[in-house]
Amino acid sequence: MQISFDENTRSFHLTNGLISYIMQLKADNYLAHLYFGQAVERFNLKYALYVTEREGCPQPDGMEEARVFSLETLPQEYPAQGCGDFRIPALRAVLDNGTSALDLRYVSHEIFSGKPALQGLPSSYVKNEDDAQTLEITLREVSGKLSVVLSYTIFRNLPILARHARISNSGCNALTLTQAASMSLDFNAAYEYDRVSMYGAHANERNIERRQLGHGIEHTSSVRGVTSHQHQNFIALCEHQADEHHGKVYGNTLVWSGNFDAATEVSCYGQTRLTLGINGEDFRWNLQAGETFTTPEAILCFSHQGFNGMSQAFHRFVREHIIRGPWQYRERPIVANSWEAAYFNFTEESIVRFAKDCVKLGAELIVLDDGWFGKRDKDNCSLGDWLITDTKKLPNGIKGLADKIHALGAKFGLWVEPEMISPNSELFRAHPDWALGVPEHKRSQQREQYVLDLSRQDVRDYIVDAICTVLRSAPIDYIKWDMNRNLSEVGSAQFPAAQQGEIATRFVLGVYDIMDRITSAFPEILFESCAGGGKRFDLGILCYMPQTWTSDNTDAICRQKIQYGTSYVFPPLTMGSHVSAVPNHQVGRFTPLLTRFICAMSGNFGYEMDLGKLSAQEQEEVKAQTALYKELRPLIQFGTFTRLMSPFAGTCNETAWSFMAEDGSKVALMYFKNLAEPSTKLRRLCLSDLDPQACYQVRHHLIPKALSVNPYAQDFNLEGEVFGGRELMEYGLTMDRVDADFAAYLIVLEKI
Ligand code: DGJ
Repeated sequence: MQISFDENTRSFHLTNGLISYIMQLKADNYLAHLYFGQAVERFNLKYALYVTEREGCPQPDGMEEARVFSLETLPQEYPAQGCGDFRIPALRAVLDNGTSALDLRYVSHEIFSGKPALQGLPSSYVKNEDDAQTLEITLREVSGKLSVVLSYTIFRNLPILARHARISNSGCNALTLTQAASMSLDFNAAYEYDRVSMYGAHANERNIERRQLGHGIEHTSSVRGVTSHQHQNFIALCEHQADEHHGKVYGNTLVWSGNFDAATEVSCYGQTRLTLGINGEDFRWNLQAGETFTTPEAILCFSHQGFNGMSQAFHRFVREHIIRGPWQYRERPIVANSWEAAYFNFTEESIVRFAKDCVKLGAELIVLDDGWFGKRDKDNCSLGDWLITDTKKLPNGIKGLADKIHALGAKFGLWVEPEMISPNSELFRAHPDWALGVPEHKRSQQREQYVLDLSRQDVRDYIVDAICTVLRSAPIDYIKWDMNRNLSEVGSAQFPAAQQGEIATRFVLGVYDIMDRITSAFPEILFESCAGGGKRFDLGILCYMPQTWTSDNTDAICRQKIQYGTSYVFPPLTMGSHVSAVPNHQVGRFTPLLTRFICAMSGNFGYEMDLGKLSAQEQEEVKAQTALYKELRPLIQFGTFTRLMSPFAGTCNETAWSFMAEDGSKVALMYFKNLAEPSTKLRRLCLSDLDPQACYQVRHHLIPKALSVNPYAQDFNLEGEVFGGRELMEYGLTMDRVDADFAAYLIVLEKI
């Protein structure tokens, strides 16, 4: 791993043998971007940016004669607005004289081992200094009023870079930032790439969308104050021919949980620019003389082995450099959550009964979801009243219940939604100005709730204190931290008019502050974040809480797409995924218990149903499934995940993925076929990354029961069968079994 600066060519080369990132200082100290991709040993810097004159491109003063140098065509590292580059800028600001033309030039740089943390923001980290190297380049606006430090970290053995920018007011008067992206990446070609992003909605998160880049600007963004159900803060560019296993892919995401914008622009000269960072819409940040604004961190991944290559790198990165604390490498327990089992309708007695039934069948952690505080018999009140336990439901308080659950040999968890306040709550009656709001406007409600103004220190202190009091009051092992609305009427009663454009950003910084204080006070508690399901599944929150509830949609068929899309960036270990009852509460579908199990066990496994209500035969099945999950848990939670068949492809009828043990000794293959077809095409499923010389024996084969209406249907059990590694990768396994809707198969192979 090495970051070098060549004095002769005035170029920077960041490389770790997997990737190279090359920049060069051009005439008059403009910082140009040259290359990002597979590691290169040599790079001819002389011709890399050769361009001839293009009529219509301005030249900087002093370069007008040559007519070939223009910011309009120069690939740049951190393009700014107003001095001849008309493409999307990374930086926009209004200076003290009211103008906003910015001309950034290189001043100095520094190279050092390790990776410093970002001020006030979550960021990736390394445990040992030798695991990363950092380059910081300082640019200054020619007026001297503003300077920018661009920070780049390269990690050992990962095709990944972390970037952010620190923008300082180096003048004497105040200035205002109106755009401060975390990264900008210029590609010297346009038509080579497809643009891949994720869209969705509540209960339908992270659908993958891929289309060819066209001329002009395209945005994938959020202005909802959170990452959002609607768009993920992820953007990839890939070659047209790239697929799951082959081709070049540039995947980018943010360590950030608020408004964001991922923008791409193809210029008239066929160049592509990609910027990613806080959304400039409605963003203003005042910088007084001497103050600095730090952008969130962007994570850039390059894969020449398609989207699986990208995801596997992201997954390792999340496990090793995002998730921290005692739960980083600890196996996660099987959860039984009360939400879909009881909603608001429970008592201590009913939860203890629920717990007994679930523990008997293998659950290890019993979670009491919403409804335990204030007058919360419905989702329309009491948020904020965390110190008022509902003693009608829980006569012995949280402690009484937690003790009873512990006595069953299980862990105990609780639901909270600390960032919210109900209009109908004691907290709101006492502090109506504690909710975000704008003068002369009524606040909009979503789920009959408002959002707390976490830009305020006093509000943050109150919430930290209240939640810590609850956590100290009982033996609580797990917290589900929910967040059920978007931000609207974003204003703070405590900030002056000039700073109202900062509130959406300050809210997120406030969330990080309270999460940091609460999670570090209780390091042993396992925190799971949630936001109406999966609207805040991002690397920012994962820095505090090592797992996230993926979606409120627990249907095993919908979940295939949701989990497949989520796996583009996030490892299955982080994805809460539970078996729920049939008919499914979100889509009314009946799916077999086996299918629900195989889908849920592909993530962070648990139950979202009352297991006591199952038939005796189903209970036996659940018992066997939880036992099998416990055997496979290290493989599923810490193995390498590979996508094999996409639910977004063709008729969206099949999905397959696999988990490979770190040492290659075991592989679990999950295959789903949603609708049965007559005279179906013969199907073979090829595995990947096996040892071609080794033999693999089938240890477990879970298959749907053959339908009795078909006299020729047979159960087909491969248990004990032996296959060659090369055979499994080249010829594959025949997946032609029974015809039944919503079928799923699990095959576990062991190297022998
Ligand atoms: C939304 C979450 O996503 C659900 O799992 C559940 O916790 C409810 N909120 C509770 O109100």
